[in-house]
Amino acid sequence: MNTKVIAMSAENFSDWYAVSRTPEEPGKVISVENLINDTGCLDCHSLDGSEAVGPTFKGMFNRRHVVITDGKKRTITVDDEYIRRAILYPEADIVQGYPEVMPSYKGDFSEMQLNAVIEYLKSVR
Ligand code: HEC
Repeated sequence: MNTKVIAMSAENFSDWYAVSRTPEEPGKVISVENLINDTGCLDCHSLDGSEAVGPTFKGMFNRRHVVITDGKKRTITVDDEYIRRAILYPEADIVQGYPEVMPSYKGDFSEMQLNAVIEYLKSVR
């Protein structure tokens, strides 16, 4: 059995702990990685750099690339706000070269879960 030790600050830990207490199964402790796996994100995105339906999460934070917004190309830098919009309003910016297939997750995550997911995605290096 593999055991993963994750070092994190007290603040991060409380986020992680709260996110892991799902309403459906209170007391069940899951990591953010399991949360995004259960939600289906990893059906279309990889964590290890491999190509999938969508861009890999690896090294995503601070990456500059072209998106199509309202039919126009623009270059963006991936930051917190961009990731949040990508999850809640995926149709707003379409990463060039990828299909417009990502569903919106508006209403699926609590604010705390959303923040934890964003922090997690930023950490995938
Ligand atoms: C059905 C496949 C699919 C699912 C499920 C999916 N995505 Fe996506 N996602 C995509 C595709 C394709 C793109 C690129 C096109 C676009 O921008 O919509 C994308 C783009 C993104 C981007 C922008 C990436 C970048 O490099 O600019 C983020 C962030 C993202 N998805 C996060 C998520 C998260 C978090 C989840 C789960 C809550 C998720 N996605 C679920 C297909 C998916």
